[in-house]
Amino acid sequence: METYLSTAIEIARAAGALLMEFFKRPLEITYKRRSDLVTEADWRSEALIVERLHKHFPMHAVVAEEGSGQRIDSEYCWYVDPLDGTTNFAHGFPVFCVTLGLTYREEVVAGVVYDPARDELFTAERGSGAFLNGQRLQVSKTADISECLVATGFPPFATNHDLNIEFYFRFTMLSHGIRRAGSAALDFCSVAAGRFDGFWELKLNPWDKAAGSLLVTEAGGRVTDILGRPFQLLGDDVFASNGLVHDQMCKVFSEVLAERGK
Ligand code: IPD
Ligand code: CA
Ligand code: CA
Repeated sequence: METYLSTAIEIARAAGALLMEFFKRPLEITYKRRSDLVTEADWRSEALIVERLHKHFPMHAVVAEEGSGQRIDSEYCWYVDPLDGTTNFAHGFPVFCVTLGLTYREEVVAGVVYDPARDELFTAERGSGAFLNGQRLQVSKTADISECLVATGFPPFATNHDLNIEFYFRFTMLSHGIRRAGSAALDFCSVAAGRFDGFWELKLNPWDKAAGSLLVTEAGGRVTDILGRPFQLLGDDVFASNGLVHDQMCKVFSEVLAERGK
């Protein structure tokens, strides 16, 4: 497992350096759908990552956001987002990262999230803790929603926007506030690092969740769906917290759903 993690770190750092070369240069933006951006930096970063993963681990499957992975039959699968936070990146807002998560028999076993603008490297291996630049991470100790800083995100397409606005409104009233920083993988890392007390999103792809979810659990936090049911990498919604406020926040999600007759 150590080899897997050290290789993933090397690859994430190389991809991060490449992203920094593109950052703030004029970029051509292509639209996958309305408000769903992709740039040359996404493609170039993905090409670098997929090529190196294939070289090191030819028998592993690779699922990468822009579609260049290799979906072979394997017990090992890498979930790759070559640029998480593309909209931020395209606007020159320096909150984005590279993320790679490895699953073995569908369970996340290792993960790396690299934020090249801050040179912050988040790493985790199942059972061995979570780290930021080599320092062990611990989730926050906040025990009441009224003292929490929480985060969410919205997918770049319309599905579920209206429902998440309801959650957004409710938690804005109940907590210290909400951040919508624009990179789901970094949102998980902020929970792992105790910067945020909770983070949820309703429609997230597996490459956005793989590494981040492991970072949170390895830092002592909890990851489920918004109703507290077991986390599913291939499921839609996800809720990560420091564990202490988990049940309180799940109660709020279920109250809002009940009010909406869901
Ligand atoms: C997006 C970011 C954003 C989240 C969206 C994701 P992308 O990923 O993680 O924070 O709210 O749901 O799609 O498109 O920048 O890789
Ligand atoms: Ca993403
Ligand atoms: Ca992406």
